[in-house]
Amino acid sequence: MNTELIRKRKSVRTYKAEPIPMELMNQVKTYLKKDNGLFDVPVDFTILHEKKDGIGSPVIVGADTYVAGKVRKQKNAELSFGYAFEKFILYVTSLGLGSVWLAGTIDRKSFEKAIDLKDDEIMPAVTPLGYAAEKRSIRENLMRKGMKSDSRLPFSSLFFQDTFQTPLNETNAGTWQFPLEMVRLAPSATNKQPWRMIVQKDRVHFYEKKTAGYAKESFGDIQKVDLGIALCHFEIAAQERGLSGKWIQSDPNIATLENTEYMATYELEV
Ligand SMILES: Cc1cc2nc3c(=O)[nH]c(=O)nc-3n(C[C@H](O)[C@H](O)[C@H](O)COP(=O)(O)O)c2cc1C
Repeated sequence: MNTELIRKRKSVRTYKAEPIPMELMNQVKTYLKKDNGLFDVPVDFTILHEKKDGIGSPVIVGADTYVAGKVRKQKNAELSFGYAFEKFILYVTSLGLGSVWLAGTIDRKSFEKAIDLKDDEIMPAVTPLGYAAEKRSIRENLMRKGMKSDSRLPFSSLFFQDTFQTPLNETNAGTWQFPLEMVRLAPSATNKQPWRMIVQKDRVHFYEKKTAGYAKESFGDIQKVDLGIALCHFEIAAQERGLSGKWIQSDPNIATLENTEYMATYELEV
């Protein structure tokens, strides 16, 4: 896993008719057997086929193969899911395959039935897999425009020093500049970018800035999934820069912004 994959990844909703070679699918299957969760919360994946399993998405053109993930309802379920599923997304990017996180624009009932989802489990998201078409569908282009998918909020609107009153910018973020920038490139549901971080010496605290309506009893808080993705990107970038740290959950009790919840802290090992 490396940050080149973070830069390369883009949502793909329009696919070529070309099937995925069996050898590549075997690599995918082998990868999915490993547990990639966080905070001891395992995430399970299932490979599905559009026709055989009766699943699909109205925004996807040309893909037949999908992967759905599920996790048991518990503390950190969404965080672990986001972390593990994004690692998978980056892994398939390394294989040259296209993918896109789908949480809203799917027929949930048919996916949940196909993976035999139990009452104490949630399926926050799925992705199609396949080769990206040369040209995006008109619908996909419109979606990207509507969500401003090619841009992100400024660094100083997302990241802070010691309190939420002091914005950080690229030039004064020091060691943390690179891992934070890699979080900024992350995908998020409708590109809302709910990640907010506070840097405090050798620790970086992660917060969820909630948008109303994104937490659902039936499939979890999708913006917590976005935070799991942020943790994944941050960790890959930190590792690449030779930093060694660990994830802890210990709220520093810094006065938060409205609708903002503490999630986790990356602590450098000294
Ligand atoms: C948790 C999550 C859920 C998403 N759900 C959907 C979805 O239901 N339908 C869709 O077309 N895109 C969905 N997306 C993709 C985002 O719209 C996309 O990541 C964002 O617009 C940024 O574009 P990019 O991925 O190309 O960088 C989702 C992304 C995330 C992270």
